[in-house]
Amino acid sequence: MATGKTFYLKTFGCQMNAHDSEKVIGTLEQQGYRQVESEEEAGLILYNTCSVRDKAEQKVFNRLNDAKKLFKTGARFGVLGCVAQQQGEKIFERAPFVSLVSGSASYRNLPKMLARLEAGERRITGLDGCQSGETFETGFTARQNPYRGYITIIEGCDNFCSYCVVPYARGRERSRGSASVLAEARRIADLGYTEIQLLGQNVNSYRDPEGKRSFAELLAAVGEVAGIRRVRFMTSHPRDFTREIVQAIDAVPTLCDHVHLPVQSGSSRILQLMNRGYTREDYLERVSWIKAARRPIALSTDIIVGFPGETPSDFNATMELLAQVEYDSLFGYKYSSRPDTPASTMADSVSESEKAARLQVLLDRQRESQRISYSKQLGQILEVMVEGVNPAREQIIGRSSQNKPVNFTCAQPITPAPGSYLQVKITATHPNSLAGEAV
Ligand code: SAH
Ligand code: SF4
Ligand code: F3S
Repeated sequence: MATGKTFYLKTFGCQMNAHDSEKVIGTLEQQGYRQVESEEEAGLILYNTCSVRDKAEQKVFNRLNDAKKLFKTGARFGVLGCVAQQQGEKIFERAPFVSLVSGSASYRNLPKMLARLEAGERRITGLDGCQSGETFETGFTARQNPYRGYITIIEGCDNFCSYCVVPYARGRERSRGSASVLAEARRIADLGYTEIQLLGQNVNSYRDPEGKRSFAELLAAVGEVAGIRRVRFMTSHPRDFTREIVQAIDAVPTLCDHVHLPVQSGSSRILQLMNRGYTREDYLERVSWIKAARRPIALSTDIIVGFPGETPSDFNATMELLAQVEYDSLFGYKYSSRPDTPASTMADSVSESEKAARLQVLLDRQRESQRISYSKQLGQILEVMVEGVNPAREQIIGRSSQNKPVNFTCAQPITPAPGSYLQVKITATHPNSLAGEAV
């Protein structure tokens, strides 16, 4: 390779991808590769991709197109992640300069695939159907996040929501043994991390293959690892959300005051078409458990607007649900038709302009609701973990246990390091963040 054993890696998509990239980087470094900051400097250019919505997938192909000129000067290209798994060898047709296509379930074969690439092979695939039940664990994770240690505890998804590509892109659900999860949590703590985030597409569908711990028990055990001060988990599926999880949060102070519980729609009719496995009432029951906790637990959610057949009255049901739950944050998406999913063949599509209009109404309402709920934190003193600085505004950026962003000033002459904790008095509130000063 013209530029030697160097690689550039760009990650798209969710935290699972971000963490997979940490493992891929560690594996490449172990194979003698050095990470560089731009495509131009790299012998090997890798994109770890997301295919959850059409736009996410387009981004990858645009990026590939922009960089393809580097093929002539010797660079080689690899497409990893969800687009790779879903599109498979079709990627070679669409982007013939790509040499490697690998889904996440094949990363354990990366060293072998890299050797073949170095030997000059031009069409290498790792498209394991992920039926083996194995999870990808490596001792070489190159942690990129300075303050948060990620641990994937369950890979894949068996839910087959009718709109979603993840079950095809990530394969069947497979959980990692709880003893191995706890060993990694201890290693992370030894590295100096105080925050751990447990990851899974349905993190609370976790089934310990060793049969030792339920998800809530594992959560509590991770929270009790010496040195760990904050534990988060993403993403919980409402159907598998148990009271035991709320009890664990109540019992173990290190478990953060935040649950992300995607509802997708407030209409039971649409939820059924989505194949979500719960009704509006089931969902609200789970919310009532969370709201009855001893600590105030912030709730966030994901919502899809414009699912095929969504009527104004279905959308209205979603808006009513919003008013009832009062989410602390919300990710709203326009429904995007994905190849090979059952929803892609459903009738009564909602027009693009109607989807955009509904999304706008949703986000406006949420902003107003957050403006009110965030304003209730005025005057409070919150524990904030430092994530970085904003030099332009001479502010420190951090997050409360409830996952609310906090921008604050600090009288100390030395800037606190990412991962340190400060008590911050909230002096101003905004719809998406809090502001204050360290006390
Ligand atoms: N496993 C998680 C989320 C996975 S994807 C869960 O079940 O909640 C993250 C979010 O992307 C989803 O919650 C959903 O709101 C959104 N999403 C997934 N597929 C989509 C599609 N086809 N169109 C629009 N949004 C989608
Ligand atoms: Fe997709 Fe549904 Fe699985 Fe979430 S639970 S990843 S939305 S299929
Ligand atoms: Fe995207 Fe794959 Fe995550 S489709 S959201 S990167 S699991």
